[in-house]
Amino acid sequence: GDNVMYLAHRHDIPMEGACEASLACTTCHVYVPPEYFDKLPQSEEKEDDLLDMAPFLKENSRLGCQIT
Ligand code: FES
Repeated sequence: GDNVMYLAHRHDIPMEGACEASLACTTCHVYVPPEYFDKLPQSEEKEDDLLDMAPFLKENSRLGCQIT
């Protein structure tokens, strides 16, 4: 599917994605600009659990591979 991580890769924007979107890492951690954050579908519990382990967690943190 098209998630932010794959889109970034397609446009040569470096974004890590060590687990290939299988929700097993936090290397695709991104900060979503506030004006977009509220427009995204809400994160699922599994994403939130992983985000809790991500360094430098912020209010607008998401996992790039889970944003579709
Ligand atoms: Fe591993 Fe997104 S690439 S959780």
